[in-house]
Amino acid sequence: PVPALQGNQLLQTLGEPDRNLFLDRPFPVRLTGTKYACGRGGCGACTVMVSKHDPVSRKIRHFSVTACLVPICSLYGAAVTTVEGVGSIKTRLHPVQERIAKSHGTQCGFCTPGMVMSMYTLLRNHPQPSEEQLMEALGGNLCRCTGYRPILESGRTFCAESSGCQQKGRGKCCLDQGENAASSLGGESDICTELFAKDEFQPLDPTQELIFPPELLRMAENPEKRTLTFHGERVTWISPGTLKDLLELKVKHPDAPLILGNTSLGPAKKSQGHFHPVLLSPARISELSMVSTTSEGLTIGAGCSLAQVKDILAGRVSELPEEKTQTYRALLKHLKRLAGQQIRNMASLGGHIMSRHCYSDLNPVLAVGNTALNLMSKEGTRQIPLDRDFLAGLASADLKPEEILESVYIPHSQRWEFVSAFRQAQCQQNALADVTAGMRVLFQEGTDTIEDLSLAYGGVGDATISAQKSCQQLLGRHWNEPMLDEACRLLLDEVSLPGGAPGGSVEFKRTLVVSFFFKFYLEVLQELKKPGKLLSVPDGRHFPEISDRFLSALEDFPATVPQGVQRYQSVDSHQALQDPVGRPIMHLSGLKHATGEAIFCDDIPTVDKELFMALVTSTRAHAKIISVDLSKALELPGVVDVITAEDIPGTNGAEDDRLLAVDKVLCVGQIVCAVVAETEAQAKRAVEETKIAYEDLEPVIFTIEDAIKHSSFLCPEKKLEQGNVEKAFEEVDQIVEGEVHVGGQEHFYMETQRVLVIPKTEDKELDIYVSTQDPAHVQKTVSSTLDIPINRITCHVKRVGGGFGGKVGRPAVLGAIAAVGNWLPHSSCLLDREDDMLITGGRHPLFGKYKVGFMNSGRIRALDIECFINGGCTLDDSELVTEFLILKMENAYKIHNLRFRGRACMTNLPSNTAFRGFGFPQGTLVTESCITAVAAKCGPSVREKNMYKTVDKTIYKQAFNPEPLIRCWNELAEFNKKNYWRKRGLAVVPMKFSVGFAATSFHQAAALVHIYTDGSVLVTHGGNELGQGIHTKMLQVASRELKVPTSHMHICETSTATVPNTIATAASIGSDVNGRAVQNACQILLKRLEPIIKKNPEGTWEDWIEAAFEQRISLSATGYFRGYEAFMDWEKGEGDPFPYYVYGAASSEVEVDCLTGAHKVKKIRTDIVMDACCSLNPAIDIGQIEGSFTQGMGLYTTEEELKYSPEGVLYSRGPDDYKIPTITDVPEEFNVSLLPSSQTPLTIYSSKGLGESGMFLGSSVFFAIADAVATARRERDIAEDFTVRSPATPERVRMACADRFTEMVRDSRLFS
Ligand SMILES: Cc1cc2nc3c(=O)[nH]c(=O)nc-3n(C[C@H](O)[C@H](O)[C@H](O)COP(=O)(O)OP(=O)(O)OC[C@H]3O[C@@H](n4cnc5c(N)ncnc54)[C@H](O)[C@@H]3O)c2cc1C
Ligand code: FES
Ligand code: FES
Repeated sequence: PVPALQGNQLLQTLGEPDRNLFLDRPFPVRLTGTKYACGRGGCGACTVMVSKHDPVSRKIRHFSVTACLVPICSLYGAAVTTVEGVGSIKTRLHPVQERIAKSHGTQCGFCTPGMVMSMYTLLRNHPQPSEEQLMEALGGNLCRCTGYRPILESGRTFCAESSGCQQKGRGKCCLDQGENAASSLGGESDICTELFAKDEFQPLDPTQELIFPPELLRMAENPEKRTLTFHGERVTWISPGTLKDLLELKVKHPDAPLILGNTSLGPAKKSQGHFHPVLLSPARISELSMVSTTSEGLTIGAGCSLAQVKDILAGRVSELPEEKTQTYRALLKHLKRLAGQQIRNMASLGGHIMSRHCYSDLNPVLAVGNTALNLMSKEGTRQIPLDRDFLAGLASADLKPEEILESVYIPHSQRWEFVSAFRQAQCQQNALADVTAGMRVLFQEGTDTIEDLSLAYGGVGDATISAQKSCQQLLGRHWNEPMLDEACRLLLDEVSLPGGAPGGSVEFKRTLVVSFFFKFYLEVLQELKKPGKLLSVPDGRHFPEISDRFLSALEDFPATVPQGVQRYQSVDSHQALQDPVGRPIMHLSGLKHATGEAIFCDDIPTVDKELFMALVTSTRAHAKIISVDLSKALELPGVVDVITAEDIPGTNGAEDDRLLAVDKVLCVGQIVCAVVAETEAQAKRAVEETKIAYEDLEPVIFTIEDAIKHSSFLCPEKKLEQGNVEKAFEEVDQIVEGEVHVGGQEHFYMETQRVLVIPKTEDKELDIYVSTQDPAHVQKTVSSTLDIPINRITCHVKRVGGGFGGKVGRPAVLGAIAAVGNWLPHSSCLLDREDDMLITGGRHPLFGKYKVGFMNSGRIRALDIECFINGGCTLDDSELVTEFLILKMENAYKIHNLRFRGRACMTNLPSNTAFRGFGFPQGTLVTESCITAVAAKCGPSVREKNMYKTVDKTIYKQAFNPEPLIRCWNELAEFNKKNYWRKRGLAVVPMKFSVGFAATSFHQAAALVHIYTDGSVLVTHGGNELGQGIHTKMLQVASRELKVPTSHMHICETSTATVPNTIATAASIGSDVNGRAVQNACQILLKRLEPIIKKNPEGTWEDWIEAAFEQRISLSATGYFRGYEAFMDWEKGEGDPFPYYVYGAASSEVEVDCLTGAHKVKKIRTDIVMDACCSLNPAIDIGQIEGSFTQGMGLYTTEEELKYSPEGVLYSRGPDDYKIPTITDVPEEFNVSLLPSSQTPLTIYSSKGLGESGMFLGSSVFFAIADAVATARRERDIAEDFTVRSPATPERVRMACADRFTEMVRDSRLFS
């Protein structure tokens, strides 16, 4: 372990001075803990701590940064602590690492080192942080697996206010309620609510932390004044030691940017290919970090980070009277939400202002706050205003090439002046705003007459826009309703937003422009109404009353750590202590995840001269390939070869699904060829030099609607029908018809696709290390591509950094292409997040039409649903997804006359594929939307009325007993009865989810268990560790069967050499079937050992194993499970396709801000009851439920469909433009209960697979939002029926809550 790295040491390994810390391959420093997941600063997986001596305060400053944006040269004089330096299993675990693992805060573990580093940095600065500080520290870290709750719980154990169960003392805790607690769960007395033992945690001892390296301290005390220059191959980094030198350098290199946080330059280099041959780093110039105050205002050095600016402003706010700090408060409001903590630590005030991003949060506030910019050059200093012209980049109002921004002057506000800031983004934190605004009004003293007004908006054009004309016209007006109406009209006229404005959503943005002003109007009105504020209200007027509903819209919600209880049934008191089944055992790799010692595919130590592959993809949606010119690419330094379809010795995929395109392309992003080079950068450069000429083909189809028009389908229609649907429609009281659109979803596994191919020198053997859910498929594909037998290829999967269905099919394609060249010593391919999102496809978007017939009582008599999914350009899993969609669509409802039809559309988009839930989350949303429509007519009991109640048969005639479903439903009803509902928007959904593949052969599984002569046990099985804890569960099974503690056991990896012909780890059934195979192997072994044990019952395990070896008893056994019977006859529409069902129910309560569309789901509550039967591991199962619920919530609320250009080019290429749920999206109260006393005879130890089912329960949030919107629409007398569109993004919610402002936008559009 490396305790802490010094930037100076890193510089010795320098290639290019702007290379990034740890993450550019081949790696400058080989440490495995810092993970690469996006490369744009947006996910936090690469978080490390930087410590620097601050020349102004003369203290050591510790701050978290995203390593992917840190150029190595910027670390001169700094110490870097990575997760390896925090603690390790081999030496000493840090409490942060111990607690995140033991609180079950890790699943795949790919995000964990980043989480650990964010928390560790927080604790270095605040050993007992507040919950708000904890939320802030983790706001820039994404996790796709856990649902965040357990991560926050681990962090909360360090918080000052943390005191055991968070519900305690609120009348909600099981302990407060005594016996009642148990009764709510059906009178069980053995319900546990603890998933880990807090008292086992080692205390945090801040004195044990690493000290700042003394040599760096000495350096800081005697700072080097010389200019330091670092020359790379293409880039020169110049770091002057004095301000004078910097100004001289700026004259010499007028085009060279000043690089501070690199959070603007870095992403632009990556996504837009910006290149700067010379970079000037002013990091050592202390003058740029100076802060000074006067009685008039505050001057902040341009080099101060945004985090420092936040502290400085908070300091001034606490010292000065409120009236002087209006601008500072408004800036602070935005600084809490802007990006994540790491970016705020890195980004400088100067860099932020100078970047002049159109979405900038601070520039609109600074502009209205009369900020001035202090500029400096060799010639001297001058001041310019940060105004409309500067923000528009007008040369007359801008810096001269030789000038720099030295500092920023922000004046105090005055009496009678009010300043506010507003922003609306897809998520509360770590998301760029759709629209952001700064607003200021100055009144004539003692009156409500406007003396001065400034309004500035971001996100509504190419630059921050000041609405100067509108403001001018409102001068002299009173602050009243007529002024408001006039202001809105003027604003809509002035802030015109052309149709092609960046990001689209024109109507939404225009609505926000006026909605924000309305909020400002209300805020100021509230201030003016404060007693004694105004000297007099002119003309004897009264201020209008502000209704409570509007007042609530003004509340600013502090981010708090969610609360919640997790309930599960404890194991039988007679169960042996050694037997871990049913206990909340920590993930086997939990501690390794937390220390960065868990090895992922990309962390495998490589030998010298590894080769890297980068893919050339189609830029056309449907075209003939006319020519491919590789000559320029091949001439570039480091390029070894370019692989095309002609180089494939065997089969190039299927006729209609090629590995490498031949003659034509079917979508943007289709792989055409692959460059192999000595470094990743060289490979990528060569990709840009590969020239492909195309001739466009017709038709080009992107949408389901177009596919239907062109009859473009991938497979025949799938249909199930029962009863007489037509006749039933004739007999019902009412009929409702509707349409439902469900957007697709990006897998966004934190570890992108990656593969490493190592050819052996003999017999065409190959070792493939790959991040996949299906190594046998990779093996088979490579075999057919290279035309060598399967037995020469071994696929290894140690662990996968999240899969969710996205690593079933695609890894085989990458593996096969990477294997084609047989490159020695080995070649690897790692997809950037951008390429991963472009190439790999995701969840199928769906369009559904329903017609439902029902009696006035709410009893549904007939239902007819027709669905279309967008399959993309090849079949992939689309036929299967259609089948599963149709099979599962009835969900929990018994409807006698039923018809479901489904088709997969072929479009010119990347092929969509398997995704957690496999069609269920989309299809069932149609069913639930239809039930919701009936409930709107007949009352909320419609769901219960139509649910399965007794033993029955599904639409495909499979018998089942819905008793657990009813119990889940009743449990939930019981919880809800006890709780006070705020009735903002509420929904309850039931769920019947079928587990498994609809084919017996897909349920087979095998395991291989070896016992070695020292008694240690090696378990191997066919499942892959994707974060779902399958290896942990398998050792629990082996431990119970062999009666040996798990400490004697080990699982090394999944390998096609130990367990052949495996099935993809998917369909929620992996632990179940592989568990049966492990059980079988252990039972075989135990049977062999029985005579020895009988002979020496007092002997130890080791004695028995030794004796068995002496007696030549084989200590290795293969276990096998032949699979659950499953079949489906589509001709007859009958079958037994699924071995069993998981039942559940969820309720959610949300609040919607009708003015912006933000749903404050977080502020309210979600309860889930799930029938897990006898959970193998309640901590893991609850983790799966919470994680999949959160992913479902993302699908239905924030994860806006991938956006494409009219030509089919994907716009959404990273975390900045595709929003998965963040830490602030967790419901404020989040309770999960596993239904107790539930049994199923079929499965291993009566457990159930819970990997996917929770996804759909996320729809409870969607329907709660729909409920809130319906209420708003009712209040406004707008017809309640509207087309259901998922996800319910803020934009859709805002536009559905039609009001006077949306009307204004519409009217203004009519006239513009
Ligand atoms: C993941 C992520 C999320 C983000 N989220 C938000 C958000 O929610 N809201 C928001 O408003 N912004 C957001 N940003 C943008 C961020 O605020 C800016 O990138 C940042 O403030 C730029 O500062 P920097 O120091 O990193 O600039 P750099 O990248 O180092 O430099 C940017 C430019 O500024 C110039 N420059 C810097 N200092 C000076 C100076 N003293 N004199 C003259 N020129 C100078 C440089 O020449 C360069 O051209 C986000 C960025 C990232 C990466
Ligand atoms: S933030 Fe660095 S990899 Fe995502
Ligand atoms: S555990 Fe967080 S991304 Fe997998």
